[in-house]
Amino acid sequence: MTIITVMPHADVCPDGLSLEVKPGKVLCDALLAAGLEIEHACDGVCACSTCHIIVREGFASLPPAADDEEDQLDEAWGLTPTSRLACQIKVGEAPLTVELPRYSLNHAREHE
Ligand code: FES
Repeated sequence: MTIITVMPHADVCPDGLSLEVKPGKVLCDALLAAGLEIEHACDGVCACSTCHIIVREGFASLPPAADDEEDQLDEAWGLTPTSRLACQIKVGEAPLTVELPRYSLNHAREHE
């Protein structure tokens, strides 16, 4: 099992979260299964950017993003060099620490 650490997020998980995930599982699915309400507007088909996460540790262990993931990430609020889409990442053997951006695109629209 691989340890996934989610940094605290004011709305979604104020205390942060640590979970054990079986390698091969899609990160977004694992977070949802653990009760973390990460947005996933397109249900994981890489057609939105609402599942945007920032990988704070373990980024180099992930396979590079495919072109369609990069295209969606271009639309994400608060894009960083270690941004990924949680629905496009399969958990590997290396632990990951991830941060949920302050806003998803949905939230950003609400705050405009
Ligand atoms: Fe839409 Fe991940 S849920 S791209």
